[in-house]
Amino acid sequence: HSAANDPKNLRVKLVLLGDSGVGKSCIVLRFVRGQFDPTSKVTVGASFLSQTIALQDSTTVKFEIWDTAGQERYAALAPLYYRGAAVAVVVYDITSPDSFLKAQYWVKELQKHGSPDIVMALVGNKADLHENRRVLAEEAVDYAEKNGMFFIETSAKTADNINQLFEEIAKRLP
Ligand code: GTP
Ligand code: MG
Repeated sequence: HSAANDPKNLRVKLVLLGDSGVGKSCIVLRFVRGQFDPTSKVTVGASFLSQTIALQDSTTVKFEIWDTAGQERYAALAPLYYRGAAVAVVVYDITSPDSFLKAQYWVKELQKHGSPDIVMALVGNKADLHENRRVLAEEAVDYAEKNGMFFIETSAKTADNINQLFEEIAKRLP
């Protein structure tokens, strides 16, 4: 067997950014514990969780996840968490154009101050609320392409695309 095919054990620092209420903590809870909390409380400062996934070639990826607080009063803390992060997941709520604008703010911030080789994902969460959709997927796809990001819509409530989000990130690791 060749060294190129050897399974590896990767450890990846990942940060979630986005407006308060878009569902960052629920995405993490769904991914790590397979649960959904309709009464999820706002995050204070940040919270840390980790989860390991196995890829098809039996490489394992341990995500060390920093779930930041989206409330404005915590914005100044964000660099503590995105500094040195290999992956940034920028989340908005598909029913909230304001949260999409806030996501664009975080993308610019990461382009200015994040690691130059950071892998960025743009996530439109609450896809289950499609009847109240106010951000078109086409608009987000366009923005993501222009900024070299991977884009996906998720629902932490139904679990739609949550595992796929992290699998797609793992595939894009350098
Ligand atoms: P901060 O910690 O303040 O930054 O907010 P957050 O982004 O972590 O939001 P949180 O995960 O706490 O979710 C906020 C609210 O949205 C909660 O009431 C959740 O139950 C709800 N929510 C989260 N994800 C979804 C989803 O996919 N669908 C629906 N319908 N509601 C969701
Ligand atoms: Mg939170």
